[in-house]
Amino acid sequence: MGARLAPMTDRGNNLDRRLSVAPMMDRTDRHCRYFLRQLAPRTLLYTEMIPAGAILHGDRERFLGFDPAERPVALQVGGSDPEELARCAALGEAWGYDEINLNLGCPSERVSRGGFGARLMLEPALVAECMASMLEATALPVTIKTRIGVDDRDDYDHFAGFVHRIAEVGIGVFVVHARKALLSGLSPKENREIPPLHYEFVHRLKRERPDLTVVVNGGFTAADAALEQIGPVDGVMLGRAAYDNPFLLAEIETTLHGAALPDRAAAIEVYADYVDARLVEGVPLWRMTRHVLGLYRDMPGARAWRRTIAEGARRPGASGTLLRQALRLVESPERIAA
Ligand SMILES: Cc1cc2nc3c(=O)[nH]c(=O)nc-3n(C[C@H](O)[C@H](O)[C@H](O)COP(=O)(O)O)c2cc1C
Repeated sequence: MGARLAPMTDRGNNLDRRLSVAPMMDRTDRHCRYFLRQLAPRTLLYTEMIPAGAILHGDRERFLGFDPAERPVALQVGGSDPEELARCAALGEAWGYDEINLNLGCPSERVSRGGFGARLMLEPALVAECMASMLEATALPVTIKTRIGVDDRDDYDHFAGFVHRIAEVGIGVFVVHARKALLSGLSPKENREIPPLHYEFVHRLKRERPDLTVVVNGGFTAADAALEQIGPVDGVMLGRAAYDNPFLLAEIETTLHGAALPDRAAAIEVYADYVDARLVEGVPLWRMTRHVLGLYRDMPGARAWRRTIAEGARRPGASGTLLRQALRLVESPERIAA
């Protein structure tokens, strides 16, 4: 099988992976991505994890539809059936995604019972089969997002052995959430906070396998700390911080590319037009406006911004104009002077 696959480094290197936004269920939906794109034109964005069953048997437009302006976007899939995952990869390519990523990080009980997510780190042979099957089904980069271990399988050798096994089938890009997952006893939220971060596992992997593209994830909340990772590894992925403080992405991207910082108000003007267009299609306003609440974090007017939008979004007849009004509140000259 190996001979028929592209050499691993041929896939995925066309995407700038230095900065990416993590897949986050109930967060990084298409609206969120459209908004983030206004602040960070080049950052690689990931979808929420979409279970293979939903892609194959559900409403395709609902699960896969997105605006080309969001690109580059990676589709993250959850599953453990090689044949199903291959079909998802082919569909992802047909729908215009830039990468297909398999979730090996989610420790939730529901996902574990479904036989996928983080627990798959205990089954490298099956994961290798899944990845090979996806590689054959698409010309896109096929990547994987893992933890550094699961339960008591948490030593470096186990982690590196897992990665080597997956790399053997031609996978060249590894996104690593640098803490292990505990499959029982912790909620998904606790599993993102309690197990300690071990960036050194991820750095060592890159040193030992410079042929692989390695992206580190977990716990980055400041631009400096995130930027410091680019060097020891190939890229850094931000999850919660990118959502709670989206302008951080703009700050990091600006440093990476030497471009001027984008304007918050201009980003909101574009997003307000987008929101109005989606409202006509029946998308509830609050589903879209919730993504912008953190835009003025730590700035004068941040509270007024959040409150105006959170309270106004469920009022009958509210529209993108709510965002334009909130903007006037925070961007007014008196406010800026304050
Ligand atoms: C609300 C929420 C939902 C998440 N959903 C997913 C998911 O669908 N797929 C996935 O691989 N990781 C998911 N994660 C984990 C993140 O991708 C990321 O690995 C984790 O939050 C650590 O990065 P951070 O410290 O930068 O947030 C989720 C995290 C949060 C907070």
